[in-house]
Amino acid sequence: MTNRTLYIVVCGAPLASRTADGVKAARANGWDPYVIPTEAALPWLADQDLGDTRVITGNRTPDQPKRTPPPDAVAVVPMTFNTLNAWANGNANTYALTTLCASLGSHTPTAAAPFAKHDLAGHPAWLASLAVLRYAGVTIVDPHDGSRAAAEPVASGTGNEIASAFRWDWIFAALEEKQI
Ligand SMILES: Cc1cc2nc3c(=O)[nH]c(=O)nc-3n(C[C@H](O)[C@H](O)[C@H](O)COP(=O)(O)O)c2cc1C
Repeated sequence: MTNRTLYIVVCGAPLASRTADGVKAARANGWDPYVIPTEAALPWLADQDLGDTRVITGNRTPDQPKRTPPPDAVAVVPMTFNTLNAWANGNANTYALTTLCASLGSHTPTAAAPFAKHDLAGHPAWLASLAVLRYAGVTIVDPHDGSRAAAEPVASGTGNEIASAFRWDWIFAALEEKQI
């Protein structure tokens, strides 16, 4: 069977440090991953071994061919406060956001792990944007324990610890359910 195409959109927060693990886990689960980082995620990717994984940054030029096949699924790990709100509002002013807006609009199965501290999550846009994404069919996965009932903010100073304990199979389980 041909592997299914998975876009892994990576935003600028500590859980971005687990991208290489996500790529390996994706392959082990029958996905063909493409990594699509935001600009803010790049420092976290710099010291990770992504092997021959295709990492797609920035917009292509008009004369360049498309760089990715259409996705069978999308994982947003981690999803920052900034990307959450921009995506929910339909902002498409970066390649990562254009990809996310298009996959939402085309009903591509998507799972996202929001990652923001209490101060950011206390802003009213946090709950409003999560509600918009859930309404649109995105599975929100709590980065602490994989729960889909609620997404808890990350306590200040615990970002790296939560990133270390994060299990990619929470994401793949959510995506598999959507494929059925
Ligand atoms: C060390 C560091 C840790 C950060 N952690 C978070 C975080 O956990 N959640 C978050 O929403 N933003 C965090 N930020 C801020 C985002 O990187 C910033 O808002 C950025 O503009 C997000 O861009 P993006 O959504 O395009 O990735 C962090 C920034 C730095 C430098």
